[in-house]
Amino acid sequence: MANPRLRALTRWGKWAKKDWAIAAVGFTIILFALTLLFDSRNPATPDLLSAQDLVPLTLLHRAKATGAFCLDGSLPGYHFQKGFGSGSNNWLLHIEGGGWCNSIETCNIRKRTALGSSNYMDRLVSFAGILSRHPSQNPDFYNWNIVKIRYCDGASLAGHPESEFKNGTKLFFRGHLIWEAIMSELLSLGLSKAKQALLSGCSAGGLATLIHCDDFRDHLPKDATIKCLADAGFFLDEPDVLGNRTMSAFYHDVLQLQGVAKSLHKKCVRRMEPSKCIFPLEIIENVRTPLFIVNPAYDFWQIQHILVPTESDPHGYWRRCRLSIQECDSTQIGTLQGFRSSLLKALSKLEKDKEGGMFINSCFVHCQTWMAETWHSPNSPRINNKTIAESVGDWYFGRKPSKEIDCPHPCNPTCYNMDFTRGV
Ligand SMILES: *[C@@H]1O[C@H](CO)[C@@H](O)[C@H](O)[C@H]1NC(C)=O
Ligand SMILES: *[C@@H]1O[C@H](CO)[C@@H](O)[C@H](O)[C@H]1NC(C)=O
Ligand SMILES: *[C@@H]1O[C@H](CO)[C@@H](O)[C@H](O)[C@H]1NC(C)=O
Repeated sequence: MANPRLRALTRWGKWAKKDWAIAAVGFTIILFALTLLFDSRNPATPDLLSAQDLVPLTLLHRAKATGAFCLDGSLPGYHFQKGFGSGSNNWLLHIEGGGWCNSIETCNIRKRTALGSSNYMDRLVSFAGILSRHPSQNPDFYNWNIVKIRYCDGASLAGHPESEFKNGTKLFFRGHLIWEAIMSELLSLGLSKAKQALLSGCSAGGLATLIHCDDFRDHLPKDATIKCLADAGFFLDEPDVLGNRTMSAFYHDVLQLQGVAKSLHKKCVRRMEPSKCIFPLEIIENVRTPLFIVNPAYDFWQIQHILVPTESDPHGYWRRCRLSIQECDSTQIGTLQGFRSSLLKALSKLEKDKEGGMFINSCFVHCQTWMAETWHSPNSPRINNKTIAESVGDWYFGRKPSKEIDCPHPCNPTCYNMDFTRGV
């Protein structure tokens, strides 16, 4: 148990209920990764694992000039793998996920983790799936310049310093400045001459992708092909099983605390309650750049935090179903099907958009692009026999229309369904 992530997990039980929502993305992603590691004892996968390459962290020194700091005042960072061959002028950016912090207390906890401070970030991370430089794992983007942007502001790279406390509370809300500093650095490294580029991210990073997509586009040459891909970032503005608007209230607090409204579309913020405008349904109304949405229909993070947050299940009726879709009874499956319908409804406009793409598989999972097993491998989840990598590639390069919507659970045998009842 030398791994600091594992040590962090053992502290989990002491956390208050409220903190749970915030750090849960990071937590569940780590669990997911661990589960895949355990599954990888299966002889079909070791070559995929050994093909994951470690890429060093670069601290963003230019961030000092504009005060673009992580929550704790440390420098933000990114990992960069240079492109080669025909990919030399192409760029893929991927924004890390990890939930949000909605209060001084939860941001203070976060600033003592890698999601709030570069002092705690791993110096080497593995580049797999959409980040991989192996064509067998990443057929379309393997030779591009690939950047993983670390997430350390707690507000999807969209907070503003005006809302910081002037009374000595040491928390930096500089998400938007971090985004600008990262762009400025990458533009100077060659992004400004990109011929093709794709901004992507998972979970809170998928949301950041949607928020910054048009700005990304506007920084790059007019004649370049620029698109955006949000993985597990399509959070729904749905009530929980008691009818409380838990997610909406949570986002309301994040916006208030970190001044996020300034990063959202003015047209939306003028028209409605600003915290509505951070939901992807509203964001994509105003995005001009072509978008692809990868999202499982039964995204376990959304089920555990939007549909059935722990507070909404005081009697534990959902306890097992929240942890594994195999454990849900027929009434619960009915509720999950309703959630899937809400997702499809929210995506119906994008479905009609000629430039849009989507891959909505009926799996109980969360992020799927940065792991070889879910992005592109012999055992990957598929819809109509296509992997996520093939669908995204078909859309990006305009090879064929790419709007894949799976039949409802339990029809797809290719799913990687998470099972948190095992060994947790
Ligand atoms: C600073 O201001 C915030 C917000 O008003 C408050 O919650 C916090 O307790 C204050 N901190 C100190 C040290 O006074
Ligand atoms: C959620 O809804 C229930 C029943 O409608 C209500 O009693 C409870 O106070 C609500 N909880 C929160 C946190 O709003
Ligand atoms: C599915 O695709 C694989 C290659 O990706 C191919 O070998 C296989 O024959 C296809 N299966 C069907 C049923 O089309």
